[in-house]
Amino acid sequence: MKLFIDTADLDEIREANDMGILDGVTTNPSLVKDEGNVDFHEHVFTICETVDGDVSAEVTATTVDGMIEEAHRLHQVHENVVVKIPLTQDGIKALRALDAEGIETNCTLCFSPTQATLAAKAGADYISPFIGRIDDLSSDGVGLIEEIVQIYDNYDFDTEVLAASIRHPTHVKRAALAGADVATMPFETLLALLDHPLTDRGLERFLADWEAYKDARKAEAGLA
Ligand code: G3P
Repeated sequence: MKLFIDTADLDEIREANDMGILDGVTTNPSLVKDEGNVDFHEHVFTICETVDGDVSAEVTATTVDGMIEEAHRLHQVHENVVVKIPLTQDGIKALRALDAEGIETNCTLCFSPTQATLAAKAGADYISPFIGRIDDLSSDGVGLIEEIVQIYDNYDFDTEVLAASIRHPTHVKRAALAGADVATMPFETLLALLDHPLTDRGLERFLADWEAYKDARKAEAGLA
């Protein structure tokens, strides 16, 4: 399973990348807005130079021609850019055209298995079901991942399932069990994957015992 970070914050991206487990980055217009007064294309370039992996950057046009034009510009920014296209009728047409040109795409704002099927047929490289936003409506986000994985397996679609809008480690675990190819998550969720109180307590005890062992050895040698 690939792990992506869902942020445009360079400090978070660098810190996650330093862990050596990061496979890519996803951004969206809201995350770019959070970075304040940055040049969008320069910022995407810097992210691409920071991480050795796919970096999703989203178009904001809503027409086929507009999306394709923005996709061309983003594609020129860096070879690792994956162009994020919204799951609309125009988006499907744009995905098909970009696939024919060999430009990598991530189809975003997916909330149903039928949407995901159309995205795969249009040649999307990634499909991004937003599982947290589905859970927010008291529905089952991971259930959607399961259904998409099943449909893609049934028909051997190459599109990778990228579980997005992840809010906590249980989302990551359940997406992995459901067979998602990628999970993208905020930095704090990535760090939370490490958390376990028994690890902290166990380490504390091992270190205390190690100090006691060293003190005992010193005492034996008459150095205490
Ligand atoms: O990047 C798309 C997705 O991960 C957004 O997540 O938390 O805004 O629903 P969220």
